[in-house]
Amino acid sequence: DWTTANVIEEQVERIREQVGSDRVICGLSGGVDSAVAAALVQRAIGDQLTCVFVDHGLLREGEAEQVERDFVAATGVRLYVAREADRFLGALAGVTDPETKRKIIGREFIRAFEAAEQAILTEASATGERVRFLVQGTLYPDVVESGGGEGAATIKSHHNVGGLPEDVEFELIEPLRTLFKDEVRAVGAQLGLPAEIVGRQPFPGPGLGIRIIGEVTGERLALLRRADAIAREELTDAGLDAEVWQMPVVLLADVHSVGVQGDGRTYGHPIVLRPVSSEDAMTADWSRLPYDLVARISNRITNEVEGVNRVVLDVTSKPPGTIEWE
Ligand code: XMP
Repeated sequence: DWTTANVIEEQVERIREQVGSDRVICGLSGGVDSAVAAALVQRAIGDQLTCVFVDHGLLREGEAEQVERDFVAATGVRLYVAREADRFLGALAGVTDPETKRKIIGREFIRAFEAAEQAILTEASATGERVRFLVQGTLYPDVVESGGGEGAATIKSHHNVGGLPEDVEFELIEPLRTLFKDEVRAVGAQLGLPAEIVGRQPFPGPGLGIRIIGEVTGERLALLRRADAIAREELTDAGLDAEVWQMPVVLLADVHSVGVQGDGRTYGHPIVLRPVSSEDAMTADWSRLPYDLVARISNRITNEVEGVNRVVLDVTSKPPGTIEWE
């Protein structure tokens, strides 16, 4: 019968058998799936697993710390951190088109991840160990969507071995392949992962990079991070996390409007709140948040975040509006 304890036990055995004495790499995104997949593999093979966290500088307040400090404390996992905020900001300089931003972030992510892999491969080969596996947090709905097919999955990765580019083949470990999202959360909780990670609402891979309408800069990221943290804190305090599917907070960086704050006239940016209710993100409705909550968020953001003098609420369903603004 299905219990989280059984799932864990079964997967742990399976992973041990599959891996033997070889080494394994797992990327952490800050999200639920990769964290639970990594924790399961860690439970099975301990230090044979190295997790890789590419900090692209586009996460929200506290999220990098959740991975580097809280996840490591909860699991004891061996973590390789690639601090790459400058690489991503550099590559995004001057770019405003949403699809171009996505492509650049995806490309830089792969490059940063492969560089981290290379470092781990080099270190392993010094002790005669083989790095043969890559963990992926694929869930059951992803398996169905991509047509199923068990086994033999591999991923090619490019590396510079002895100065020459070479393809490395990794076999995949996918310990969440039979699970739905709520089951993954239950397994994560049972494995002792922090509630902030296990209960995290969906957040896009390109992160805050696609929530700044206009060019992404360090200053704009800092501003949006503050506004987003306030909005999330108030939503949580109101006890509405479970009712809201996700609430993107968007900075209209290329828009200015006139305001009056403190001693006088300001010419600042609007922040958009985009709370949505949804089952699967394919369609969504805007969440009817209590007005006093919206008022609190608005007051706090305009008081506490310099450069913002207006907060607006997005009341568009999906379709026609997507959940994200880019
Ligand atoms: P849209 O904006 O298309 O979003 O209504 C649907 C869901 O997908 C998330 N999303 C992304 N997730 N990479 C991701 O990992 C992306 O590029 C991306 N774009 C959108 C969005 O947050 C929502 O949950």
